[in-house]
Amino acid sequence: MNNVLECRQLHRHFTIGPQKVSVLRALDLEVTKGELISIVGASGSGKTTLLNLLAGLDEPDSGQVLVAGKPFSELSDVQKGRVRNSSVGFVFQFHHLLPEFTALENLLLPYWLSKDVNQKAEQRAKELLDRIGLGNRYHHKPSELSGGERQRVAIARALINQPELVLMDEPTGNLDEETAEQIQQLIIELNREFETTFIVVTHSTELAKRMNKVYRLKEGQLHLES
Ligand SMILES: Nc1ncnc2c1ncn2[C@@H]1O[C@H](COP(=O)(O)OP(=O)(O)OP(=O)(O)O)[C@@H](O)[C@H]1O
Ligand SMILES: [Mg+2]
Repeated sequence: MNNVLECRQLHRHFTIGPQKVSVLRALDLEVTKGELISIVGASGSGKTTLLNLLAGLDEPDSGQVLVAGKPFSELSDVQKGRVRNSSVGFVFQFHHLLPEFTALENLLLPYWLSKDVNQKAEQRAKELLDRIGLGNRYHHKPSELSGGERQRVAIARALINQPELVLMDEPTGNLDEETAEQIQQLIIELNREFETTFIVVTHSTELAKRMNKVYRLKEGQLHLES
């Protein structure tokens, strides 16, 4: 149907030595275009594990993830890469910026991979940095930025290609209230302007309550809270 993303009966466990940890157990999820979803849950409940599966960065033991109606498991690595570069944006819990590039260059990187960089791309990168309060940090490298500033560059980078779906793992975790508020507003604005779908893992009740739906991950499944 109109599902941007769907999970069917996802199972994922990890085995370390004799210990087996069942993290996701028959997890189902349906996400329609333009939804704002937050996922909350205790530390260790499996939120990052779930996002990694949704992004196709990890594979389930059984069950399926479908992105834009296409089952991830049936795509080749090249096809998966294409979906990730063009339709899904990802903000990791611990940002992964490339240390040798400036903030602006880190944003333009996915552009270099998918299309040629043009003036429009650079304009958009600068606009995004401006909108999250980094208008005066274009040419700083990650080592020259604070933790929260790096986090914001990672968020802008996930948005540069205007993906249909954005997955974020604790996007406001390291940020002060005011900066967190800017990020929340950016999410809401992009959702309004472009119908971008967001799935945001967060411990912030402030951020969770601005979303359309809040799911709690508990005992390996998602439970709708509000
Ligand atoms: N690669 C791995 N190998 C073994 N165990 C893992 C691995 N990744 C995650 N786990 C285990 O799976 C469980 C869920 O981890 P996950 O990172 O998904 O939790 P989380 O909900 O994101 O927690 P937090 O809120 O602290 O970020 C944890 O108990 C962890 O020990
Ligand atoms: Mg996590």
